[in-house]
Amino acid sequence: MTIRLVLLGRQGSGKGTQGARLASHYGIAHISTGEMLRNAIKHGTPVGKVVKDIIDNGGLVADDLIGSLVKGRLGESDARTRGYLLDGFPRTLPQAQLLDDIARARPVNVVVDLEVPREMVIARLSARLAAEHRADDSPEAVERRLALYEEQTAPLIAHYRKQGVLAVVDGVGTPDEVFARLVSAIHATTGVASRGGGGQPRR
Ligand code: AP5
Ligand code: MG
Repeated sequence: MTIRLVLLGRQGSGKGTQGARLASHYGIAHISTGEMLRNAIKHGTPVGKVVKDIIDNGGLVADDLIGSLVKGRLGESDARTRGYLLDGFPRTLPQAQLLDDIARARPVNVVVDLEVPREMVIARLSARLAAEHRADDSPEAVERRLALYEEQTAPLIAHYRKQGVLAVVDGVGTPDEVFARLVSAIHATTGVASRGGGGQPRR
């Protein structure tokens, strides 16, 4: 039984922080589209040149570009054999439909909505702006990113609830507290208790 997980949640809800911990806990690939794009920018690749301004201004990269990046990554052997955690994809309905198609043979088996209130994510992102200076953590870009989340990404919650794979997890608390809740929700939804281990798979 492998875990094929999508992590949904507002910008600043902790997808990157918890995604890294969960991927290491379960021995699965952590696939962050934001990290892939930031790396492309850092290395000056053609993709990086196309997306830099869009990201810095808090916009969304085109579905077909992001879709082809993810399709390629999910075709790599670690993701195919050990499972994966998608952090930051899908974030529009067309992306979710594309993922349904890509993963038709072995569908996503748990989608976590990491819930953190808007005021709290704004506080976290402005603290990060002071510490790390990510261009899209400016107040204007955060406003735009959060508006796009409500418009384009929040509808995915209903999409996955219909598929019967949604788990809603409270993302307020210390990183350890949130991690424990996530592991328990993943167990309840997939039957997987921990890496390689135990439990009766449900799907
Ligand atoms: P992406 O990199 O995915 O950024 P994001 O979704 O905007 O979210 P963040 O990475 O800011 O937040 P997070 O939820 O990962 O939280 P984190 O753990 O970092 O995307 C960047 C851009 O790329 C997009 O805007 C878009 O332009 C483009 N893009 C990416 N994917 C795309 C797609 N599929 N389609 C189109 N465009 C796409 O935590 C945030 C802060 O809070 C950190 O400082 C952290 O230390 C702190 N923190 C974490 N947990 C806690 C806690 N429990 N308590 C207190 N502080 C905490
Ligand atoms: Mg992130």
